[in-house]
Amino acid sequence: MSFNEWLNKRFPMDRLVREHLTGYFAPKNFNFWYYFGSLALLVLVLQIVTGVLLAMNYKPDAELAFASVEYIMRDVWGGWFVRYMHSTGASFFFIVIYLHMFRGLLYGSYRNPRELIWIFGMIIYVSMMATAFFGYLLPWGQMSYWGAQVIVNLFETLPIVGPVLSEWIRGDYVISDITLNRFYAFHYLIPFIIVGLVVLHIVALHETGSNNPDGVEIKKGPKGNRWSKDAPADGIPFHPYYTVKDTLGMVVFLIFFFGVVFFLPEMGGYFIEPPNFEPANPLKTPEHIAPVWYFTPYYAILRAVPSFAGTQVWGVLAMGAAIVVFFLLPWLDRSPVKSVRYRGFSTKAFLGIFAVTFLVLGWLGTKPPSAEYTAMAQFLTVVYFLYFFLMPCYSGTGDNVGKSGLALFVISVLLAAGSLYLCWAETPDLGTGMKWLYTILSVLILFYFGLRPGWIKADEVKPVPERVTG
Ligand code: HEM
Repeated sequence: MSFNEWLNKRFPMDRLVREHLTGYFAPKNFNFWYYFGSLALLVLVLQIVTGVLLAMNYKPDAELAFASVEYIMRDVWGGWFVRYMHSTGASFFFIVIYLHMFRGLLYGSYRNPRELIWIFGMIIYVSMMATAFFGYLLPWGQMSYWGAQVIVNLFETLPIVGPVLSEWIRGDYVISDITLNRFYAFHYLIPFIIVGLVVLHIVALHETGSNNPDGVEIKKGPKGNRWSKDAPADGIPFHPYYTVKDTLGMVVFLIFFFGVVFFLPEMGGYFIEPPNFEPANPLKTPEHIAPVWYFTPYYAILRAVPSFAGTQVWGVLAMGAAIVVFFLLPWLDRSPVKSVRYRGFSTKAFLGIFAVTFLVLGWLGTKPPSAEYTAMAQFLTVVYFLYFFLMPCYSGTGDNVGKSGLALFVISVLLAAGSLYLCWAETPDLGTGMKWLYTILSVLILFYFGLRPGWIKADEVKPVPERVTG
């Protein structure tokens, strides 16, 4: 009996390879945007390997943590390399995931029947944010300490349970050695939960089959290709076709990645913030506290919402809602087609506006607040939510907006009214020109994307080809 036979009697090795690689038929028209799933997998592995190596010399102790990182950087053989791979990897992970998610928005990959793939993806995204947040405390630098302080204090704003909850998270009245220990435990644990979630993500993907840039379901199309008479005609075996394509993607990615690791590991303060080269000092607050760039769009939303009725909880809720709303996308999008290629002007325009909004909010989140920046963040926070809340109106055919779509339109009007009230009544330092600009733009967006009166054409979609093109 060969080893292969011995193994396959005990473990379905051949079946797994057939079902997920050589006999998994993926659409033949994957493009640039389809590199990022496999790249995310690569970075996840890189983060776990470098993380375990760092853990061999890191000390999760408030007295020793900062010095142990310096020791890794200066004395451990190759330590600087492993540490910079891990810190750069964290930022690259988010770059890759944001592009991976944007592909989902472009081609409607979250739509029926792939809602669960999207939901698993979103749970992965939230888990990545938690991992990054816990990990950032570990070097015990000034920004580690004060960043964690600011974020944990947010929980304190929740009514009734807030103070108890934040104390429970810290395990102390302030961020301390106790907090560092538990954050380390979670930072080590969650990546392995992410690995499990990625397995679920891919199992769900292989059940429905991949979407593609045309948004055409290849499983529903004609059958039969040169490998199998039952396989979709427009499918090609994942291995060797996409394993080769993805390997090329990984090589190009690693060139960029190591370029940054070797020449720009701090990325001008965006990947590693300057205050983090100073040890944590609970008696000295840094002049300006800002999270790392991948959190800053949400941080800008948090800061944009003022306290109301004596509590700051509204900003925290808005920040939470900005993430939660992504989960609802499969049900907000009412377009008859999936891919941006065949969608009407409104969907394309708002997707572009949303991408720019997300980037500008990210930039605003890194800046110290000023009247102009705050007003801009308030306006863009509303645009951010309108992208989602008006989606049933602008993506639909007009007759499928439904009661939920109308309710979301009303919420959108209230949101815009609230931000304009803040702009006119509560921001005396802002020029009248800017106030009018935000007012006109808000009304235009509500009118064009939400109300869609008769003389604005319904978002006409182009006819989708029966089979994938290209
Ligand atoms: C550790 C993080 C992640 C890994 C390793 C991962 C991996 C993958 C892989 C390998 C694919 C198939 C190849 C591709 O379509 O690019 C895929 C597809 C997909 N992923 Fe992820 N993913 C991750 C996170 C996410 C997140 C955060 C989301 C969204 C919230 C997401 C949404 C999707 C969707 C919708 C598809 C199907 C795309 C299509 O068929 O067009 N993924 N993922």
